Amino acid sequence: MNRSEYCAHLSAKDIGQEVTLCGWVKRRRDLGGLTFVDLRDSSGIVQLLFSGDDPALTEGHTLNREDVICTLGTVRARSEGNINREMQTGEIEVQVQKLQILNRSLTPPFLVEGDGSDATEETRLRYRYVDLRRDRMQRNLHLRHHVFHGLRSFFTDNNFTEIETPVLTKSTPEGARDFLVPSRFSPGSFYALPQSPQLFKQLFMIGGIDRYFQLVKCFRDEDLRADRQPEFTQLDLEISFPRGKDEIFSLIEGALKHTFHDLLSEDLPTPFPQMTHAEALSRYGSDKPDLRFGMEIHDISQIVQNSGFRVFSAAVADGGKVAGICAEGCAGYSRSKIDHLQEIAVKAGAKGLSYIKVKDEISSPLSKFVDATIMRKIISSLDAKQSDLVLILAGKGIEQGLGELRLTIAKEENITREGWNFLWVTDFPLFALDEQGHLTSEHHPFTSPHSEDMDLLDESPLKVRSDAYDLVLNGIEMGSGSIRIHSRALQERIFDMLGISKKRAQERFGFFLRALEYGAPPHGGFALGVDRLVMLMAGEESLRDVIAFPKTTAGICPLTEAPMPVDDAQLAELGLMRKI
Ligand code: AMO
Repeated sequence: MNRSEYCAHLSAKDIGQEVTLCGWVKRRRDLGGLTFVDLRDSSGIVQLLFSGDDPALTEGHTLNREDVICTLGTVRARSEGNINREMQTGEIEVQVQKLQILNRSLTPPFLVEGDGSDATEETRLRYRYVDLRRDRMQRNLHLRHHVFHGLRSFFTDNNFTEIETPVLTKSTPEGARDFLVPSRFSPGSFYALPQSPQLFKQLFMIGGIDRYFQLVKCFRDEDLRADRQPEFTQLDLEISFPRGKDEIFSLIEGALKHTFHDLLSEDLPTPFPQMTHAEALSRYGSDKPDLRFGMEIHDISQIVQNSGFRVFSAAVADGGKVAGICAEGCAGYSRSKIDHLQEIAVKAGAKGLSYIKVKDEISSPLSKFVDATIMRKIISSLDAKQSDLVLILAGKGIEQGLGELRLTIAKEENITREGWNFLWVTDFPLFALDEQGHLTSEHHPFTSPHSEDMDLLDESPLKVRSDAYDLVLNGIEMGSGSIRIHSRALQERIFDMLGISKKRAQERFGFFLRALEYGAPPHGGFALGVDRLVMLMAGEESLRDVIAFPKTTAGICPLTEAPMPVDDAQLAELGLMRKI
């Protein structure tokens, strides 16, 4: 028997038809002499009926969840009382004439029709092949396919060429550790799996490819969380002779508009808004602000610097600031809730948290130190109304703390509006300081400094802006890119500022520095995290729900149990020795 139809494609118009269906038993119910089986395939479900003294009945009676069967039967109308309006095929059922049991299943570790909550995530991942049968996973993986397909066709239609880049390669710095692969031919030497195809795509531009894209796996050994996997997929692209970053922005906007329209029937307004990194930080305390709610940061340094309250005046005198946010309707927060907010602020580097509860009687520990007129000025400058809570931090770099408070309160109060809030964050600083106080790249070392800030490179490198940009969606970083350095001299100067010696630069990037001397055109590009995009489009909160075989936060695949120890002989072959 060969399949003639998919289960959920049947409807009342097929009544009287003979069909052969294949699939899995979702469940079986025995009612007197009748057996009902819900049969599931990739299209959905249809009800099978085994009745009367039909010889097929005997075996139908033995079917269990997840058994794989093939049935020949006739589509018939359900009686009025048995019609199920909730079910796509609820008007019909298939009266079985022949049953072939193709394979029996052990009792599944969790219900396929459930939401997965009857099993831990570890169990779901260990039995991922069962988990993948669930509607939600099927929907997510189909969506993923269509997103990939839409992006591929958009960039192909826009004259991009998809070209693969090596997986066994050399370290590409993107701020994480490399996954290393030992070489059998050169004992003691290692390939690195690419953190991104960054240098190869730049070499494509030097190689005259002009417009490259690739849906590509990237590998990063970093601490994992819901929106980070050790291997993930980017839509990576690069163009030569860009008309500034705007050309790249409009390509990405076009691709997303097309994808959202086709797959979610959403009409994304373009161009997406833009905000400089400095503005994002000072207004929202984050380089990936979630604009689905307000609660902006207000600088109140001028109001409070002469208030007589030493914490505030010292913060301003020290070159810091005093700033706050207004949490609408939160004046009723208990002592313990405020303590919790204080912990969050302190974890983000603040020294403490001041607050004002705006009620009939203003209630604030500040009242002891700050007079009523100034308190009123603070309240009005934050536009705080009756029953609002004003939260204030003082010092240097307090924006991050206020940003964290803003996110915590938005989550707690559930004030986030529905919608797709895309934002370009531009003009990132070229450098940041690492924990040891050394310069490091804020994006990556191939990013071009802002042409207007070249003079600052030597005297104030931390003030130099770059031509790097991020795309943010609903407070999540979706992608990053930049206009690149295309001159060897400038690239070497940046390596030097990053503390990469000439010798080391030559060892690690010599091939690339040489290429820059053979006619490197101006170029720039972008990489979109497609797992994150699919996660948000699917309404999921974890990348693990949109990746077929993801790793746990401990970097383990519970299904295959990778990573695994290898035996000594295999290590010896690779010139390696076990130390522990
Ligand atoms: P970046 O390192 O910002 O830029 O990466 C681009 C996008 O990739 C996604 N991403 C991840 N997704 C899941 N798990 C991870 N561990 C992970 N790490 C990154 C994010 C991120 O915004 N070569 C540059 C791009 C360029 O300059 O063109 C790069 O890789 O969505």
